[in-house]
Amino acid sequence: MSTNTQNQPTLDPAAALDDRFCAAIRTVVPDLPDDQVKAHIGPSRQPKFGDFQSNCAMPIAKRVGMKPRELAAKIVEAIDVSGIAQPLSEESIAGPGFINVSLLPEALGSALGAIDTDQLGIEAPANSKTIVVDVCGVNLAKQMHVGHLRSTVIGDAIARIQERLGHCVKRQSHVGDWGRPIAMVVEELCVMEDAGTDLSSITLAQLNAIYKVVGAKCKAETKALELIMKVGGHAKAEIELKERIAVADAAMDKAKARLVALQSGDERSVRIWQLIYDITMSACLATCKRLHANITDEHSAGESTYRDELSPLVQDLIDRKIAVEDDGALVVRCEGIKEPTIIRKRDGGFLYATTDLAAIKRRVGKLGGDEVVYCVDSRQGLHFKQVFAAAHKAGYDKTPSGNDAVLVHTMFGTIFGEDNKPLKSRSGENLNLTDLLDEAVARASAAVAEKNPDMPEAERQTISEAVAIAAVKYADLSTERIKDYVFSFDRMLAFEGDTGPYMLYAIARIKNMLRKAVDRGVDVEAAKTASFSLADPAERALALMVLRYPTIIRAAGDHHEPHRLCGYLYELASLFAKFYEQCPVLKEGVEESTRDGRLRLSMLALRVLQDGCDTLGIPTVDRM
Ligand code: ARG
Repeated sequence: MSTNTQNQPTLDPAAALDDRFCAAIRTVVPDLPDDQVKAHIGPSRQPKFGDFQSNCAMPIAKRVGMKPRELAAKIVEAIDVSGIAQPLSEESIAGPGFINVSLLPEALGSALGAIDTDQLGIEAPANSKTIVVDVCGVNLAKQMHVGHLRSTVIGDAIARIQERLGHCVKRQSHVGDWGRPIAMVVEELCVMEDAGTDLSSITLAQLNAIYKVVGAKCKAETKALELIMKVGGHAKAEIELKERIAVADAAMDKAKARLVALQSGDERSVRIWQLIYDITMSACLATCKRLHANITDEHSAGESTYRDELSPLVQDLIDRKIAVEDDGALVVRCEGIKEPTIIRKRDGGFLYATTDLAAIKRRVGKLGGDEVVYCVDSRQGLHFKQVFAAAHKAGYDKTPSGNDAVLVHTMFGTIFGEDNKPLKSRSGENLNLTDLLDEAVARASAAVAEKNPDMPEAERQTISEAVAIAAVKYADLSTERIKDYVFSFDRMLAFEGDTGPYMLYAIARIKNMLRKAVDRGVDVEAAKTASFSLADPAERALALMVLRYPTIIRAAGDHHEPHRLCGYLYELASLFAKFYEQCPVLKEGVEESTRDGRLRLSMLALRVLQDGCDTLGIPTVDRM
């Protein structure tokens, strides 16, 4: 999936060394398959031997049947580390075959100086791409549930990372706002209105309830009847069932008729549909705002917006013999995929896949997407495989300049409850996202109050809201997106460990130190251009981690994996904590030049932490 990395000169010594080691490995073992050419560069476990160590010799030696130290000696002889590190020799090899590397004395300071710019070392790409990101995708007449937490939070983070890398990003929320289920709700609201209900005051919670009732109403129990007929059930049960099925069939017929009315622009149907749309979307967008997800009205591109494009699209596929009849339905068959993609049902209705084909056409053809990224549940894996293949077969993925757009399903796993089943409410229903966020805030508020008993109420509320949102988002973003995870308020709200609150705390702590410095009359402005102090191993470790930032952001962008950035920020925050413990900054007796050098490093680390949180969409606070 590596599509984005631009070959930019790197300020990151770890990345530069990685390249040089790989080149040397290729020289020494020319036949080694590419996926095994790995430098295994990490921070030195014993700082007195250097800044880094490469652990490459052991696994490769095993592979090619050499002694690790012998291989290490050959690598050391072949490698060119000029401009980055001190020359390597036999002396650099330790233990079973570790290779120790010390940076050139000036290298660390000058790389830090170079990254200390507004852009933090992430320069705009030479060829910026247009990347369409499919986010959120709520459904009308339904409250947002935890499933939409991931498509909103991860989708927005994926978009932000690409924006940070300098690409042109277009978010699209594929709202489920069309089709029979919605028509069923419209029909029910018509009935209610006829009975005198004032629809103008209806809430989303009520719509949600109506959605469920009408769904059940239209569901014919044909399976049960078939069973009774087969095994010969009670005559009365049979009559009752037949009656119920007749009622369900009648309800379904009404819904179908309502859909036809809606599709043909019937004034009343459209008015009520619009009402449902407005109620759902205003609640959804408010939740997006609360989640600090940059998803607004302009990003909504519901299924309804494709309604006039579906017939011509299907006709085009028929004309070009890409779609064929199959048992009355219309399907597209694609090589390598067993299940044909149905694009028109026997009754003439279009499907989810039909709309998604139209969406690809628009996203690539009209919006100019070089890449279209779908942040959707992994359970829709087959759907996207089919749709991508069908779009390719039809040429709908051709960009105006004639290239094939890259279509990716950046899927995510399921959120489980502590019982290891998909997270549900106590009554077994989908967990409403607003309720979940409210509970997170209540819990955060209690924790903040415990830590700061004297904090004014209003401030506590603002901070608790940020802590809660950061906790929920960070927990979601920091697990590899493809994996399922268990939702635990206790774990995500902890102030220690790999959590959102810890990140916020790390940021607030550095800000606090800077406030203290100002209070003591330190010229913080002047410290911004001081020489870095890099004698202590804790300073060097922190500095080296700061320099990794551009490499990490690019990797997170290449793979559309925000968790890489979370993991990095956690390491950076932890190294700052160690530095803060071992290297006094404002303490009496610290030399002015050391103090200023440490202040500058702290300010740089703060900016990286802040930029990282902004890039993930995690709100931060000034004090905690
Ligand atoms: N509304 C859909 C759902 O809730 C998600 C939409 C995903 N995006 C897409 N282009 N199909 O399952």
